[in-house]
Amino acid sequence: MRTDIVSCKDYVEIKKKELKEEIKHLDKKPVLAVIQIDDDQASNSYIKGKQKDCDEIGIEMRHVNIYSNTTEQKEVECVITDIAKSDTDGIIIQLPIPGKYNLERLQNLIPTEKDVDGFRRDSCFKPCTPKGIIDWMEYNDFEFKGKDCCVLGRSKIVGLPLTNMLIEKGATVTCCNSTTMSTEYYTRNADYVFSAVGIPNYFDFSDFSDFCELVVDIGINRDENEKLCGDVNNVDFERYLNNTYVTPVPGGVGLLTRLALMQNVVDAYKIQKYEGMI
Ligand code: GUN
Repeated sequence: MRTDIVSCKDYVEIKKKELKEEIKHLDKKPVLAVIQIDDDQASNSYIKGKQKDCDEIGIEMRHVNIYSNTTEQKEVECVITDIAKSDTDGIIIQLPIPGKYNLERLQNLIPTEKDVDGFRRDSCFKPCTPKGIIDWMEYNDFEFKGKDCCVLGRSKIVGLPLTNMLIEKGATVTCCNSTTMSTEYYTRNADYVFSAVGIPNYFDFSDFSDFCELVVDIGINRDENEKLCGDVNNVDFERYLNNTYVTPVPGGVGLLTRLALMQNVVDAYKIQKYEGMI
């Protein structure tokens, strides 16, 4: 196994320092608006994490709370339109939102140059989770050309864009989904596995080959004791030491995603300031 890999945690610390330094030299603080509808507990905790990152590196975060019992689609559309016209650089709608709203219509009100989640088809930005993963792999000099990759999950914001980004980099990619007959067949033949299955401890090391260099665990699950865990059972440390590097949960992809959002906000600021897009 490679012993020179910079962990997600250390990489994020390095990159956050760089961002903080870059922001110090801008004319003003970049502004991120986070729109939250209702009070989902997981969303509260994600937003807290974003606030912490923003405070740490010098981004102004504006948290806009909307309640579904008193607000209809049209009114939310007005709120987003107003925020889009204001001095914000990046705007995100925290997911999930209640089913009574048409999410795509709301997302399409965010201008492409402010869509820092990268959720619009024509966004100026890459979705944060795939971007975070690819950037971290590039920092660690993982090769893409000639590598067999297995992506598990085909969601619009993670699996699909990640698959496309790996293909663009020259990798050979299989994207599995819940109807794939034998996922182990694909994971056992992969150099890199990217798991967004969302089932606690779904894989163990018998599902990966001896030559598997990297498993990126994208799962954010709760185990039977309500403890945060990924898709990969990380208990078999002997195998871990032999060959395969597995990103931890927590402390892995979640941090990469948060970093990518901050980078997108700073890029959004630069696009709007220097390319006159507003
Ligand atoms: N909910 C969970 N993760 C995310 C994310 O990356 N972006 C948004 N907008 N909502 C989320």
